[in-house]
Amino acid sequence: MTTPNSMMIVNDAGHLVVGGCDVVELAAQFATPLYLYDETVIRRRCRDYVQAFAERYPSVEICYAGKAGLTTAIVRLMDQESMGLDVASAGELYTALQADFPPERIKLHGNYKSEQEMRMAIEAGVGRIVADSLPELDQLDALAGEMGATADILIRVRPGIDTHTHELIQTGQVDSKFGVGIYGGEAEQAVRRALELGNLRLHGLHCHIGSQLLELDSFERAVDLMIEFMADLHQQTGWECEDLDLGGGLGIRYTEHDEVPTVAEMARRLCPRLQQAVAAAGLPLPRLILEPGRSIVGEAGVTIYTVGVVKEIPDLRTYVSVDGGLSDNPRPALYDAVYEAVVANRADRPATEWVRVAGKHCETDTLIEEAHIQRVEAGDLLAVFATGAYNYAMASNYNRFTRPAVVLCGEGRAELIVRRETLEDIVSHDVIPEHLR
Ligand code: LLP
Repeated sequence: MTTPNSMMIVNDAGHLVVGGCDVVELAAQFATPLYLYDETVIRRRCRDYVQAFAERYPSVEICYAGKAGLTTAIVRLMDQESMGLDVASAGELYTALQADFPPERIKLHGNYKSEQEMRMAIEAGVGRIVADSLPELDQLDALAGEMGATADILIRVRPGIDTHTHELIQTGQVDSKFGVGIYGGEAEQAVRRALELGNLRLHGLHCHIGSQLLELDSFERAVDLMIEFMADLHQQTGWECEDLDLGGGLGIRYTEHDEVPTVAEMARRLCPRLQQAVAAAGLPLPRLILEPGRSIVGEAGVTIYTVGVVKEIPDLRTYVSVDGGLSDNPRPALYDAVYEAVVANRADRPATEWVRVAGKHCETDTLIEEAHIQRVEAGDLLAVFATGAYNYAMASNYNRFTRPAVVLCGEGRAELIVRRETLEDIVSHDVIPEHLR
């Protein structure tokens, strides 16, 4: 594991090691800023999920939520680990198909799927399309009919659960743009509609209540509410839910202060509860689907920066500016995310300084408000931990920065999986109209 700091691996030279590779050497080879993934950690997390749930539940599919970070190499890795794959856009679906991911293990999500996205999904024969609204059911039915196909779907419901997480990443509450509400009867109406439509095959229900959840009670409440709803539906319509998808959401350790339930604990709490509730309601046991994103890749990622300016404001604080920032990690600005860091070329030394780590964008792009790190000077390398989820995925070209390379490390091997953008890439989509030439 690469986080928290106390668990990091340091070699005899005092350098941070990721996936068996010396980070100082990686920075020299691939330049900075640089995203690193530890392949062993990603694989271990996939296996943790598959094993913990397979041991406690007869039929389970674990789908990696690609929105946390998707490249063609990551797709290959997920295929090798026999994971399913969630995609949320044409771009993610295209990435999966380009990397030969079996379409039957792909699920398409989105609260507004464009016609192009629905067509692509139906044409590719994805395993499930997760319908998000009543109008979308009609649209999917019409498209599938036109294409001479049947669309295999789930319906995303809003169970009405408020979770303890940042409001921007809560998704299962009553007031949310996602899914159809159980309360008010919209979800029941959607199920009835889907059963009527001739070109849809309704396999089950989906919910996703939020992200970076550090407590399991919200998941338990989701299980209870979903089973209650399935039982009601069964009574009203006779429909039997074949797939129950509980979404993603398990949190990770960004800092030493975060206490996170293990995947095994999650399985121990949810599987018996689900089985008992289903039995009590007299329903057949559905296949259980989960969609973890962050908890698969988050802790496997580290971002490496080069320290530029170290600026001390007397009696106030020291600013350490690094060669990235908002464009490679917008999460502190968006979600008040907190990270820990280490001086990667002096990682064997004790942390003696409290500094503010700032990016190099033309605004206040604080990466870490209060970082406790080793003595630091210009030219040092700073490693920020737990950046594997929603960092590369949300990176931008703000200030026309080139996006960093992504390198996959494992057993001492380091391989480029996304090449660094070049300045030529930056202007490659620009067009100068005739009258400005
Ligand atoms: N399934 C669905 C339908 C989702 O909407 C999400 C995340 C997931 C699965 C995966 O959730 P996870 O296991 O990663 O928590 N950009 C934000 C996170 C947004 C999450 C959106 N949905 C961040 O950087 O924290």
